[in-house]
Amino acid sequence: MKNFILMILLLFTQLGLAGDPVLGKAKAEQVCVTCHGLDGVGIDDTYPKLAGQYADYMEHALKDYRSGARKNAIMAGFAATLTDEDIANVAAYYSTLKENRLTDLTIK
Ligand code: HEC
Repeated sequence: MKNFILMILLLFTQLGLAGDPVLGKAKAEQVCVTCHGLDGVGIDDTYPKLAGQYADYMEHALKDYRSGARKNAIMAGFAATLTDEDIANVAAYYSTLKENRLTDLTIK
């Protein structure tokens, strides 16, 4: 019984840490859509595809832009406006778009 309660608690903690894709979509509509599109494909090849990307990868990338560990003038500005919660949410949203996931890695 004790283990069961611990497991439930652990489950809720895990859920609490994961971003909310619905809130993430709202944020993406306001900010990221101009370059990455709402579908996460990006308006042209200049912008990396986010659709179906692993959420933890995107969270890491966004935090690195925000801290300056990863340098890019454009993304630094946008990442600076995001809270940890926003980052978890947008990452959760784009990671759900599996149908647009980058699968063809052929160099053209
Ligand atoms: C004005 C255009 C623009 C906007 C708006 C923008 N981005 Fe970006 N984003 C870029 C560019 C350009 C890069 C590539 C930067 C680089 O080379 O590191 C990038 C890179 C990224 C990466 C790293 C992708 C990878 O494969 O490593 C993530 C994650 C990302 N953006 C998420 C977001 C999110 C989330 C938002 C909205 C909050 C957003 N971006 C808004 C232009 C934009």
